[in-house]
Amino acid sequence: MLKQLEELKLKALQELTDINHIKQLEPWRIQYMGKKSTLTTMLRRLASLPLEERKTAGARANQVKADLEDSRRQKEQALRKAQLASHAKEEIIDITLPGWPVPTGRLHPITQTFNEICDIFADMGFQIVEGPDVEWDYYNFEALNIPEEHPARDTMSTCWVETNRGEKPRLLRTHTTSVSARTIERIAPPIRVMAPGKVYRYEASDATHIPMFHQIDGQVVDKGITMADLKGTLYEFARRFFGEERRVRFRCDYFPFVEPGVEMAIGCLVCNGQGCRLCGHSGWIEILGAGMTHPRVFQLGGIDPEVYSGFAFGIGIERLPMLRYGIDDIRLFYGNDLRFLRQF
Ligand code: DAH
Repeated sequence: MLKQLEELKLKALQELTDINHIKQLEPWRIQYMGKKSTLTTMLRRLASLPLEERKTAGARANQVKADLEDSRRQKEQALRKAQLASHAKEEIIDITLPGWPVPTGRLHPITQTFNEICDIFADMGFQIVEGPDVEWDYYNFEALNIPEEHPARDTMSTCWVETNRGEKPRLLRTHTTSVSARTIERIAPPIRVMAPGKVYRYEASDATHIPMFHQIDGQVVDKGITMADLKGTLYEFARRFFGEERRVRFRCDYFPFVEPGVEMAIGCLVCNGQGCRLCGHSGWIEILGAGMTHPRVFQLGGIDPEVYSGFAFGIGIERLPMLRYGIDDIRLFYGNDLRFLRQF
């Protein structure tokens, strides 16, 4: 039996040496150490041997079993190590390969323009205020010194909201100046606010008109505010938005809620003042309307025009990126064509 054990051990170890894959280890263990293996059978047979023989053969058989298990464990470790090493070699990462592109979202060009303008005015101490898109006739017109029969109403084609008889008339606000009217009623001076938002006009779409577009209105109210404050503030805006060298011009204009009213223009971005199609051969492009707040507007808002004065301005948003990037059709902003939007 001892001899048989020696042979068995030799054969098993020989076969173990030849194994070169971890998957072969388990069949080997079953063959040499499993329940039906020769070794297990021999161990079971020990009981029938005479005592002396049983002692030596038993010790030897257990020793062989322990040796086989040891060798198996060592082999397993060696194979695992080799496997790791070969994986590391095969799966080497080439960090010079370009990665997969990760698509990122971006802000709409109109949102970007809003952010840029609000940042400029925020640096000058303006705070953002908001008002509703569905507005009372009162804040859109009445409180801004545009009573019912005023011809200025006709210049803003209004989308009216259907109301029941006896209800106060409502509309989709035609300008963000409605928020300024709300602000002077709500906040006590000093006031320095800007109101960005959507505005609506009852108009057909073409390359320069759409029924919904965006504006920012600004409003400053304090003791001793003059036209110089208006010009200084808007010059600063023009310099920061269009560049230091851009020329700026103020001319008289009429808006019912300011007196005097002005329009601000900048030197044409295409021809630099020489005259071209974009600027109608004038060399200038109108950017915004502004003026000193009308005393009547202050009175309606509960502010004493003998004590306070202020200025206001309104900027159309879509025009600005159109001028800057040479976009010739306003409808492109709302066509949701990603080929267009991805350029910003
Ligand atoms: N609300 C005017 C418009 O939509 C623009 C405007 C002009 C706003 C003068 C103002 C202002 O605040 O002072 O055409």
